[in-house]
Amino acid sequence: MNEVLQTDNWQEVRAQCREVLTEPLARSIEKCRAEDPNPASRLIQVLHEVQDHFGYIAPDHIDAVAQLLQVPAAKVAGVATFYHFFRLTPRGKFMIHVCLGTACYVKGAERVAQKFKEELGIDFGETTKDGMFTLEASRCLGTCGLAPVIMIEDDVHGPITPDQVPAILEKCIEKAKTL
Ligand code: FES
Repeated sequence: MNEVLQTDNWQEVRAQCREVLTEPLARSIEKCRAEDPNPASRLIQVLHEVQDHFGYIAPDHIDAVAQLLQVPAAKVAGVATFYHFFRLTPRGKFMIHVCLGTACYVKGAERVAQKFKEELGIDFGETTKDGMFTLEASRCLGTCGLAPVIMIEDDVHGPITPDQVPAILEKCIEKAKTL
């Protein structure tokens, strides 16, 4: 079992980490550290857990993961920023993926993407100021027969034309009122 290098204020630090990450997450991270002689090798798994819980990984989360896993914060931040699947800013209520895979691209996905950007006033990887939408570009979503396709949360839609975009967004806003 891996012992943590305890400092005088360790209990205080640990309590703060638990507050930042929640009790179950902190427990899971400490378990990784205790079980693995190389806790850094669990970073991707741990960061996925953090992102699954909070929807993104904040600087405070990075510090708390570093403390509990006993891995330098710079290393945790390095992993979090290196992989595109980690999100470092809060995501919107609706995550919209626009497929830019080959089949969608040749069927006009770029025009669809451009329309989303114009309507939302954001670029890929950004979230609208009201926290409603996050826009992401995707590789093939596996439904090329419907090209060009988009995915809103877990639902795939296609074929999509640019002029359908305002109505799609409006529908999401209506749906948000019922959530
Ligand atoms: S290329 Fe878009 S779904 Fe396959």
